[in-house]
Amino acid sequence: MARAVAIDCDPGIDDMMALLTVCASPELDLRGVTTVGGNVGIELTTRNARSVLSLAGRGDVPVAAGAARSLVRVPVSEKRGAHGDGGLGGITLPEPPGTADLRPAAEFLAATVAAAPGPLTLFAVGPLTNVALFYALYPQVAARLDRLVVMGGSIGAGNMTPAAEFNVWFDPEAAHRVLTDPGVPVPTTLVPLDVTRRTGLVDADIAVLARSGPIGALTARALGGYRHGLGAVTPVHDAVAVLAVLHPELITTRPARVHVDAGYGPSRGGTVVDLEPADGPTVDVVVDADVHAVVEALLDRVTSLDQQV
Ligand code: RIB
Ligand code: CA
Repeated sequence: MARAVAIDCDPGIDDMMALLTVCASPELDLRGVTTVGGNVGIELTTRNARSVLSLAGRGDVPVAAGAARSLVRVPVSEKRGAHGDGGLGGITLPEPPGTADLRPAAEFLAATVAAAPGPLTLFAVGPLTNVALFYALYPQVAARLDRLVVMGGSIGAGNMTPAAEFNVWFDPEAAHRVLTDPGVPVPTTLVPLDVTRRTGLVDADIAVLARSGPIGALTARALGGYRHGLGAVTPVHDAVAVLAVLHPELITTRPARVHVDAGYGPSRGGTVVDLEPADGPTVDVVVDADVHAVVEALLDRVTSLDQQV
């Protein structure tokens, strides 16, 4: 039986890769998608999620919009714009038919978990605002989650500031609630920047996508517009979180306690990942991955879409 999953995201080019990977994986039963403001505004992340699902032949999957901004303080930085003004690196996908689900993301997630045929795995690959609200408003339903898999945080340096990774930097209070003090007993896997920034695509990989068919060609163009600043390797941060579930044999995890800096100093949004937690672990953190095998598995999935659709 396929594993029931849902994705909370802020598409976002690597969010697009995560959505396509899920759509290309028959082991996963995608029950719903929620969107959050982050890489671009909520209207665009919602439109992008719906249009990527439609591109992958999954326009049937409901999409519900969530928080437009962070819980407490609106983050400010000159560094925004890595995903382009439209959020997908300069490509424009057709406006999908129909409309988004009108329920707020937290309510939609509760209904989706409650209606799932079995325990559901939630991928959270944007700022954690929606997940924090879901935990706060529907703790009994959230407790039924099989696992939460978060792309975010860092053991070492960040990517928005020297201390902070983007998803946590955007809403540190939400990240604290979800990663440090969830209040609900949800097994959680953290896929941090330290692993995802190493697990990216080189030009030859993108060329394979470009040759695989119309979906692959559009995906290659989106990746080409990703102003990630990481040099020759184009990151697919969010897709690595999906591969961590599809191929657990390719990753190494360790139990850890995550501390999130929700102060207002220069390290706001930073994460301290304690791998020897005296107070007990709060997450399983991915500390290593077979980078080549993860990338190969990702390409194998995404290039298969042009044969499926
Ligand atoms: O730091 C990487 C994360 O921030 C990814 O989820 C990317 O989409 C951006 O949201
Ligand atoms: Ca994202």
